[in-house]
Amino acid sequence: MPLIFEATDENIRKAAERLKDGGLVALPTETVYGLGADATNDRAVASIFAAKGRPVFNPVIVHFRSKEEAEEAVVFNHNAELLAALFWPGPLTLILPRREDAEISLLCSAGLPTLAVRCPAHPVARQLIKALGKPIAAPSANASGSLSPTTPQHVLLSLGQNAGMILAGGKSSVGVESTVVDMTGDVPVLLRPGAVTMEELQHHLGEIQVELEAVGEKPKSPGQLLRHYAPKTPLRLKAVDVKPDEALLAFGSIKFMGIQGGGAAKDLPVNALQNLSEKGDLEEAAAHLFAMLHFLDSGGFKGIAVMGIPEVGLGVAINDRLRRAHGAQVS
Ligand code: TXA
Ligand code: MG
Repeated sequence: MPLIFEATDENIRKAAERLKDGGLVALPTETVYGLGADATNDRAVASIFAAKGRPVFNPVIVHFRSKEEAEEAVVFNHNAELLAALFWPGPLTLILPRREDAEISLLCSAGLPTLAVRCPAHPVARQLIKALGKPIAAPSANASGSLSPTTPQHVLLSLGQNAGMILAGGKSSVGVESTVVDMTGDVPVLLRPGAVTMEELQHHLGEIQVELEAVGEKPKSPGQLLRHYAPKTPLRLKAVDVKPDEALLAFGSIKFMGIQGGGAAKDLPVNALQNLSEKGDLEEAAAHLFAMLHFLDSGGFKGIAVMGIPEVGLGVAINDRLRRAHGAQVS
């Protein structure tokens, strides 16, 4: 049985049926592909963890069509209202207190009194939520600890039959996972940088704290565990040249970059050279990040040299994912 289905109306209807029966569906979102289940069905949500080989303590984002629907599950405060009005539908996840009477499986909260909620912008994700008539719980559709998928093929490679059914909706346009902000305290806390940038959050909220690194044994957001976004090939960050046997993940011009022992990086064969954005555009770079890492990771190289990326705007999210990918390998 083919696992990948184009997201036609008919296939979206079939996918919704599958979800209603407690099955899993990998679905496109604008950030990365998600592995979705009916968020109100305990057994369905439990099967996400099994399919991903994910530690059970890791909570799952629940996807809604609108803020009004999300309000049935969590309690919004002023700042959360503001961010939802500005950035939804879009790549922003808000951590908010669960309502006592929320219909959502407790597994999505993994023992926390909170729930991560988001309204995706991708039309297929929205149509699927509508067809199901329930919110969809969905972590990224990859085996736990490996790279997030931005194409249906990535999902297939990482999860195979475990994905259940893969709805194909093109390449994810953003390319990195949503920005996660914990809105439960007096001051919002950025837990995961993403396409809604630190600068934008600061601009609208004024004060914001940042807690990106795993602190102690129990990070607030388990995604902060360093072992997370990991290719198998070792990464060498902020590379200014390329070693023999290494591939190059470039950013910007490589006109003047050399290969140790002789040669120019620009003459590397295409299978060893990917440029996140030749013109140095951070949005383009984010959209390419996981696909290019996947590609170079499968090339059998000793390492991947990654050029430096500016720590501004979406560069903060890109560098966060790269540092975690690197940290996962040394820890
Ligand atoms: O872009 C995205 O957010 C994608 C798409 C599919 O929506 N989803 C995604 O999910 O990246 P996942 O499970 O791979 O990452 C969700 C992150 C994890 O780091 C998780 O620990 C954190 O959000 N998280 C979820 N619920 C939380 C909660 N109640 N409190 C704190 N962190 C939470
Ligand atoms: Mg993930």
